[in-house]
Amino acid sequence: MARPSTVFVCSACAASTPKWQGQCPSCGQWNVLERREAPRPGAAAREPAIPLRLDSAPEPARCPSGQGELDRVLGGGIVPGSVTLLGGDPGIGKSTLLLQVAAQVAAGGGSVLYASGEESASQVALRARRLGLAASTLEMLPETHLEAVLARAAERKAALLVVDSIQTVRSGEMDASAGAVSQLRECTAQLVRFAKSTGTAVILIGHVTKDGAIAGPRVLEHLVDTVLYFESEAGSRFRIVRAIKNRFGAVNELAFFAMTGTGLKEVRNPSAIFLARAAQPAAGSIVTVMREGGRPLLIELQALVDRMRFGAPRRIAQGLDANRLAMLLAVLSRHAAVSLQEHDVFVNAVGGVRIEETAWDLPVGIALASSLQSRPVPDSLVSFGEVGLTGEVRPVAYGEERLQEAAKQGFRLAVVPRENAPRKPIEGLGVIAVSRVDEALGAALSHSRAAPAQAPPPPPKSAPARS
Ligand code: TYD
Ligand code: MG
Repeated sequence: MARPSTVFVCSACAASTPKWQGQCPSCGQWNVLERREAPRPGAAAREPAIPLRLDSAPEPARCPSGQGELDRVLGGGIVPGSVTLLGGDPGIGKSTLLLQVAAQVAAGGGSVLYASGEESASQVALRARRLGLAASTLEMLPETHLEAVLARAAERKAALLVVDSIQTVRSGEMDASAGAVSQLRECTAQLVRFAKSTGTAVILIGHVTKDGAIAGPRVLEHLVDTVLYFESEAGSRFRIVRAIKNRFGAVNELAFFAMTGTGLKEVRNPSAIFLARAAQPAAGSIVTVMREGGRPLLIELQALVDRMRFGAPRRIAQGLDANRLAMLLAVLSRHAAVSLQEHDVFVNAVGGVRIEETAWDLPVGIALASSLQSRPVPDSLVSFGEVGLTGEVRPVAYGEERLQEAAKQGFRLAVVPRENAPRKPIEGLGVIAVSRVDEALGAALSHSRAAPAQAPPPPPKSAPARS
């Protein structure tokens, strides 16, 4: 059968259909389908296949961004010819961070172009002055036409091109308005081609839209080399940049910044920045040691269980996976006699950080029981560990390192999986090694309970207050 020579492409979501319709069958918008020539299979010019030679691909010379923390998540600096997407909520600090990076790369002698369709030149200049940045060789271009941006970047042989933001640029080759998915894809594809052919490193800013994935940076993730997201809790001055995709480094690396009056400042030793707990131990609060981004990080976890008022019980998880919470509730009910079917359950990772690993199972289980029984966990206690469906407590990676960090931060007692108990005692830290979830709840919530024999050294009877 002959292939149709034309297709109809939605200018809003880029879906294609063989027949014209008034409404896009994919996104439901009206009058958005446009006639296009269908791509012919095999029409594209073919590149000859070549043998893969490792010696022809030396490690690229990376360019430091001037922010050590950002270099960490990038895998050691900005790679020439790479395309990075920096996503995040409006107002979180994307423009601030990249203006600082642009100025620092420019100060290091690189030619930098900062294209802003969001703010005028005077606004950016004002911000640069506030940040105390030297003007030097940084060039600012208040432009939303992609072709003009690329022409200027090529003319200047830019080492770094920042596009603030990808939602405001549009290519003349498309009719769709700026920010439409087809426009986002086309502009990003052009920027990728430009980066690969010229060696210019490109960083795109993408706003995360509150109402969901459509037109957000998510649709671009597969096109670019590296995807970074800004995370933060409303009202907190700390900002976390997480690498969720990186062709040139490890994923799930984290960078920590604090927003100050003069821009973003790196936090080099972030292990305890999220710990600001109440003076008195409160029921439902516990500290865990997570290990993401290659470093141990102490985080307070909070749980609140409250008698259900009406309808179905609510399960709300902030910074933690809600499905995993549902699983944990079932395990607690079956294996630890902590039944919360009649309760609303809220859990929260304090500080606005998202915990992806499973080490929060055990501490959240303890915090839930603590809230239910209104019995506070001693504030010198930490816990981590994974909980399995049969109620067993399973070890997590880097147990010893987590315990060392907890001891360094002044914690005196740790409830951890049996396999994570340290071989040599850790000075100042009593370790209670558990293998079942009910055992862990008992140990954490009754101070008088003794530690099992093979957990050296025995924990103090009542934990002294942390200094
Ligand atoms: P911005 O970088 O404009 O956010 P985005 O580009 O992600 O939308 O950051 C704006 C916020 O940062 C604004 O609320 C003010 C704050 N801010 C500071 O606290 N200190 C500073 O030095 C700057 C430049 C901004
Ligand atoms: Mg901005």
